[in-house]
Amino acid sequence: MSTSSRWFLALTLPLVLVGIALARGKKAAEPEPEQPAVVEPASPPPAPPPKLFPTPLPVVVDALPPGVASLSAQTCNACHWAAHDSWQGTAHAHAWSDPVYQAALASAGESTVCKSCHLPVATQHDQLAAGYIADDVTRPRLQDNPGFDITLMSEGVTCIACHVREGTVLGTRTTDQAPHPVVASAELQSSEMCATCHQLSWPEGDRAFYDTFGEWKASAYADAGVQCQDCHMAPAAGAPQPGAGAVVASHGSPTTIQRALTTLVSLPTAAITRGQLVEVGISVINTGAGHSVPTGNPFKTWTVEVVLVDAAGKDLAAPHRTTFSRTVEAKSPWKTTADDRLGVGATRRWSASFTPNPKGSPGLGTVVVRAVRAGQTTELRRVPVVIR
Ligand code: HEC
Ligand code: HEC
Ligand code: HEC
Ligand code: HEC
Ligand code: HEC
Repeated sequence: MSTSSRWFLALTLPLVLVGIALARGKKAAEPEPEQPAVVEPASPPPAPPPKLFPTPLPVVVDALPPGVASLSAQTCNACHWAAHDSWQGTAHAHAWSDPVYQAALASAGESTVCKSCHLPVATQHDQLAAGYIADDVTRPRLQDNPGFDITLMSEGVTCIACHVREGTVLGTRTTDQAPHPVVASAELQSSEMCATCHQLSWPEGDRAFYDTFGEWKASAYADAGVQCQDCHMAPAAGAPQPGAGAVVASHGSPTTIQRALTTLVSLPTAAITRGQLVEVGISVINTGAGHSVPTGNPFKTWTVEVVLVDAAGKDLAAPHRTTFSRTVEAKSPWKTTADDRLGVGATRRWSASFTPNPKGSPGLGTVVVRAVRAGQTTELRRVPVVIR
């Protein structure tokens, strides 16, 4: 079986199950036998909010909510500028335009499966699969999509992918103050919603390929009811604006590696002597991420560097490096070959040995611990030390 057919199966199998669950739900909702007449005409119970991701992706969003001029993020921006501005710079907004993704898509043969989570709305696709030749999902029978909208395509995981269904806006609460219909959706505020795209398994894989939801589900955060949104969409400070009161959920994921990790340094004394071996103890604890660090895509790693800097700011020795990563086989179903990531609440301890350069400057130096990814460095801890 080829790579893309596995992506497809992994994606569709759970959705088939969802389909079955939905069919069951319908049965249960069949009309009850007639009840005796009541005196007061009771108002009909509110309709349940539409499902966010009920069918295999892409999801059909074609009805414009009354009061909204277009389905583009720029239209929502007119009123929800804080949500818009925090979303604009994110991986969600660039899920299609991201050059790393575009390169991977080209090498995967422009697979329709690769477009599903990155372009979750049907009108974002110029062609849609209308069945498969010989049931081979790598050979979709593609049909031009008359509803194709290249503007929406450029917006990647855009507002309506998460907020508009059946001509209604799905929000956190009902309101009659909005110029468009709004219904409250518990699903929108749940980790399950994020799992639609942040959890993925191959039928013959030894474990989930993307397991962010699975890692969360197995953690104390899930037991305590702390959802992905609680950390990734925490309210951002800002001016009050229509529809959101004084606080607005950030759509820009204010999570950082500093917030994920607690970094502790140990040394036998507060002073280091140049030319003499010193062992710097390091502990890194995952105290802030609701999943492993790193999570998701197995091609992502974090390297933690420990450096000793003299009073002049110069390195006294070569940096000591430790990597947090998961490695997978190069071919499908990408079985895991090694995994030394940091699970929720887990600690990694190691010691970095240095013989500081005798030619360094004496005075107040520093032990610096920093996280490095793709050439970008983030400081995790600075501890001043006396250099003799
Ligand atoms: C189940 C939903 C889903 C499908 C299907 C999917 N992706 Fe993704 N993709 C994601 C998510 C979610 C992320 C980001 C989160 C992460 O890295 O864990 C991502 C990230 C990526 C990245 C990393 C981008 C960067 O800048 O780091 C690349 C490249 C990528 N996907 C390529 C592909 C290709 C190629 C396919 C088809 C073989 C594909 N994706 C199919 C959900 C999906
Ligand atoms: C990946 C899904 C996703 C995308 C894309 C998305 N949102 Fe949201 N949005 C959410 C979730 C989830 C919440 C609720 C967060 C919570 O539980 O507090 C939310 C909350 C909101 C709210 C409620 C008020 C508030 O700020 O607390 C507004 C308004 C909103 N989003 C507007 C937008 C706009 C405008 C866009 C596009 C620029 C957008 N959203 C894109 C998922 C999304
Ligand atoms: C419709 C699919 C979809 C949904 C739903 C979704 N995401 Fe994503 N998410 C993606 C894709 C695709 C990417 C990666 C885009 C890229 O880099 O090419 C991504 C990237 C991210 C990233 C950035 C990862 C990085 O590499 O920096 C975070 C954080 C994230 N998502 C959190 C969430 C959270 C939290 C939720 C639920 C509130 C959520 N997402 C819901 C598709 C989705
Ligand atoms: C003309 C202004 C305007 C436009 C355009 C607009 N909205 Fe709204 N929206 C509002 C107002 C005003 C409210 C709610 C008022 C209140 O109850 O405080 C609201 C409420 C919401 C809520 C619920 C807020 C919550 O707390 O859960 C969401 C979600 C939302 N809008 C999303 C969108 C999206 C997505 C778009 C674009 C498709 C959009 N809106 C377009 C003005 C607008
Ligand atoms: C307790 C808070 C917390 C919860 C709950 C949480 N996260 Fe995170 N998440 C973080 C922090 C902190 C980071 C930054 C760590 C990093 O950059 O590696 C992060 C990073 C990420 C990343 C980027 C990973 C990378 O390597 O770039 C993705 C994607 C993500 N989270 C998705 C999710 C999803 C989906 C859920 C729910 C299933 C979730 N998170 C739940 C705190 C949380």
